[in-house]
Amino acid sequence: DTETLIDKLHRERALSGEEWVRVIDGRTPETAEYLFGLARQVRQAVYGKDVYIRGLIEFTNYCRNDCYYCGIRKSNSHVQRYRLSQDQILDCCRQGYELGFRTFVLQGGEDGWFTDERMVCLIRSIKAGFPDCALTLSIGERGHDSYRAFFDAGADRYLLRHETSSSDHYAKLHPPSLSAAHRKACLLDLKSIGYQVGAGFMVGSPFQETRHLAQDMLFLKELGPHMVGIGPFIPHRDTPFAGEEAGSLELTLYMLGLLRLMLPDVLLPATTALGSIRDGGRELGILAGANVVMPNLSPRDHRKDYSLYDNKLNTGAESAEGLADLSRRVEQTGCRIAVCRGDWRPCPDQE
Ligand code: 5AD
Repeated sequence: DTETLIDKLHRERALSGEEWVRVIDGRTPETAEYLFGLARQVRQAVYGKDVYIRGLIEFTNYCRNDCYYCGIRKSNSHVQRYRLSQDQILDCCRQGYELGFRTFVLQGGEDGWFTDERMVCLIRSIKAGFPDCALTLSIGERGHDSYRAFFDAGADRYLLRHETSSSDHYAKLHPPSLSAAHRKACLLDLKSIGYQVGAGFMVGSPFQETRHLAQDMLFLKELGPHMVGIGPFIPHRDTPFAGEEAGSLELTLYMLGLLRLMLPDVLLPATTALGSIRDGGRELGILAGANVVMPNLSPRDHRKDYSLYDNKLNTGAESAEGLADLSRRVEQTGCRIAVCRGDWRPCPDQE
C-alpha cells in the first residue's frame, strides 16, 4: 500500500490528507529506499547533478520573539547578543564570493535595530558590490511595505518557514503574539511581490502528530513555494522545550523524499539541523532528494552565539579547506557543487 501511494504521488504530485497520513505512517526502511530512488530520479531530471550552495550570514541574534523552541528567543538571557556591521557583512560576502558563492542569505532574529532604512541600505550595498549574486533575506515577519521596499532594493528571495500549518499546533510552539494565519499571510504577500519564496517546517517538534505533517504537505502544495526548508527539531537547553525529544533523522529524510516527489522543481536544502543531528546527515539529505546546502559564512567568533538548538553544527565554509571538505562530501553522493546563483527553475514538463 505504501509503495502504491508513493507511485501515485510520483505520478500525480498530490495526495489527499488521509493518503498523506498513510504514506507517512506506513513507511519502512524498504519503502524509504524506494522513495529516495524516485526522488533522486526526479531531482536529476530537473537539476541534473548540481547541488547549489548558499552562503549563510547570521547577522544579528537579537530577536523580539519568544518562540518556545528557539535558543535565541527574547527571554533567553544566557545568549551573548551581537549584530554585525554593514562592513562586517560585506566582508563575509567578499570572502564567500572568492570561494565561489553566488547566493548570500542574510538571516537574523527579528531585530528592531535593522529598520527598513538600514535594511534597504544594506541590500543596496550588497547588490552593488556583487551584482551577479542573488540575495536572500530571512528576517521574519514584516509588513507589506517593508517587503516591497526590500524587493525594490534588490532582494531576490525570502525564507520564512511556516513552522507548522496547523493553527492549534502553531499555538503550542509560539507565544500568543504570533499566529499561523499571519505567518501564512506574509508568505502569500512575499510571493505576490515577486520573491522566490521559501517556506518550511520542523520535523518532530513537540506535540507534532502525523496529521500535522499531512496538513503541512497540503499547505505547501497550495502555496507552491520555490524552496522548502525542513529539519529535525532539536531541543535547546535554555528554552521551555529543553526536556523534549528531538525529531528523527529518519522521518526528516522521508519527508524530504516526499517533498521532492510532490514539488519536483523545489529547491530543497539539506539543512544544518540535519547535519547537526548526525555526522553525514546532510549527505543523507542529498541522497533523499535535497539539492541545496547552506554553509556558514558568519565570522567565527560569533558562530557559537547563533545557537538555535544544542550542538548546532558550526563548521563553516569560510575557508577554502571548509569548502573543499563540503565538496568531497557532496561528491560522495554522486552530485557536485555548482558555482552559480542556483535560481529556481520550472520542471521541464511544466514550461
Ligand atoms: N530545532 C530545530 N530547528 C529550529 N529552528 C529554530 N529553533 C530550532 C530548534 N530548536 C528553526 C526554525 C526557524 C529556523 C531559522 O530555525 O524552523 O525557522
